[in-house]
Amino acid sequence: MYLGIDLGTSAVKTVLVDDAQRVIASESRPLATASPRPGYSEQDPAQWIDAVFATLDALKASHGTELAAVEGIGLSGQMHGATLLDASSRPLRPCILWNDGRSAAECRVLEQRWPALRATTGNKAMPGFTAPKLLWIATHEPDVFAATKLVLLPKAYLRLVLSGEAIEDVSDASGSLWLDAARRDWSDAALAATGLSRDHMPRLVEGCAPATILRGELARRWGMTRPPIIAGGAGDNPAGAVGIGAIAPGTAFISLGTSGALLAPTSTIAANADRAVHTFCHAVPGMWIQAGAILSAASCLAWAARLFGITEAELLAPLGSRPQAPSPVSFLPYLAGERTPHDDPAVRGTLDGLSHGTDRTAVVQAVLEGVAFALADCRDALADAGIEIAEADVIGGGSRSAFWLSVLANVLNVRIHRLAGGETGAAFGAARLGRLAVTGEAIDTVCTRPQRIEAFEPDAGLTDAYAERLHAWRELYRPRH
Ligand code: XUL
Repeated sequence: MYLGIDLGTSAVKTVLVDDAQRVIASESRPLATASPRPGYSEQDPAQWIDAVFATLDALKASHGTELAAVEGIGLSGQMHGATLLDASSRPLRPCILWNDGRSAAECRVLEQRWPALRATTGNKAMPGFTAPKLLWIATHEPDVFAATKLVLLPKAYLRLVLSGEAIEDVSDASGSLWLDAARRDWSDAALAATGLSRDHMPRLVEGCAPATILRGELARRWGMTRPPIIAGGAGDNPAGAVGIGAIAPGTAFISLGTSGALLAPTSTIAANADRAVHTFCHAVPGMWIQAGAILSAASCLAWAARLFGITEAELLAPLGSRPQAPSPVSFLPYLAGERTPHDDPAVRGTLDGLSHGTDRTAVVQAVLEGVAFALADCRDALADAGIEIAEADVIGGGSRSAFWLSVLANVLNVRIHRLAGGETGAAFGAARLGRLAVTGEAIDTVCTRPQRIEAFEPDAGLTDAYAERLHAWRELYRPRH
C-alpha cells in the first residue's frame, strides 16, 4: 500500500494506492492563497501541514486497515515557492509562491551577476522561480534574509515536518534556479549569486529514490505498522508525468490545473530559455522535461465562475461538447502575468471584441480558447527548441471538459487524448514514486500509461478559423515591462 500526497496551490490531495495501482481512497482539503499586494501570492506553511494532517486523519477514520499497511509515501508539490526557515526550522514569513510576480527587477540583477545562469540552469530568471525571491527578501526584508538558515520548496518543508530531514528531489529543485540541470546538483555559483551557499539547501535525491522515513510518532498517529519510507517525490508537473507514464521522449502532455503547461519529456536537455521554456529534471533518472508554463489555466474558469456567480459546471453546460466556430470574443488569460513565452509578470488579462450581443457563453468559450491559444504559444516555443508535439494527453481538472479538449485539438491541430483517471495526476504519480523507492522495481513496469478513453481530433472545418484567430489573438498582447 502506498500514499501519494500532492501539496497543490488550491488544495492538498492525498491518495491511497494499493499494490495493483488502484486508487482505493482519496481525501482533499482546500488551501487559501493571500495576495497582500497586487501581484503578490503567499501561503502560510502551517496551512499546508494542517491540510495534509487532516487528509491523513480522515483516511485513518475511513480506511484505517489499508493506511496501516502503507510502506511508501511519495510527495508532490506546487513548484518554485520560497519557504524560509530560521535556525529552529520555523518559517520566518509566509511562503512566496510560484505565481508571485514581485521579483522582476531581481531577475535582471541575477542574470547580470551570473551570466552563466541560462546555460547552467536551462532556465531564464523569471519571478516565479525561487532565487529572485531571495534577492527580493535580501533587499526588502533584510532581517528575514539574515535569519534564513534553510530555504525549502513547499513539499520539502512538508517532508521536514513529516520526517525531521531537509531533503529535496532534483525535479522540484530545477525550479529554484540554483540547480545545475545537466549535473542534477546544486550550482555553487548560482547560490553565491543570491548570497547563499549549499548550507542553506536541503540534500538532493532523485524522485524515485528512498529519501527518509516518516517520524515514529506520526506513523503511530496514523496507525501504521512500520514508519513508511518517504521517496524523493517530484514537483507537481513531473509527478503528473510519472502518474501517466510520460517518462520517455514522445510522451508530451498538457496539464490543465490552476496553472497550465505543455510538457515534453526528453532524454537530453533541449532548453530555450530565451523564449521562457522551462527545463526541469524529470522525476526518473537520466530524463528531463522541457515545458511551456502558463500561470493561469483552470483558474481562468474559476475566475469566470466567480464573476458570473455560478458554478464552473453551470458555466460549461451551455457550450455543449464541441465548438461550432471560434467565439467572437478573445481573452488573454494573463490574470497573474505570464511566463512562456512572454515572461511578463505585469501583464494582465484582456477581453476583446465585446458587443451588445455578447452573452455569457461567448465569454466562457473565449476564456477556454484563450488558454488554448496560450498553450499554442508554448507549443511554438518548444518547437524552436526542436521539440515537435505530434499528439498530447491532458491531465488536471480541466480535462473534465470535452469542449475544452476539443478546442485544444483544433487550436493545436493535433489529436488530444483524455485519460482514465487523468484527474488524480500528481498525487497518483507521487504514490508511484513512493512505491519505486520501496520496491526498487524497474521504472517502466510501474510507470505504465493509463488507458486513453477518448480522442479529440482536429476538425478540418475549424482549424483554419482557429489559426486565423490565434494570429489575431497574438496581436492583442502588449508587453507591460
Ligand atoms: C510550473 C509552475 C506551476 C506550479 C504550480 O513551473 O509554476 O505549475 O508548479 O502548480
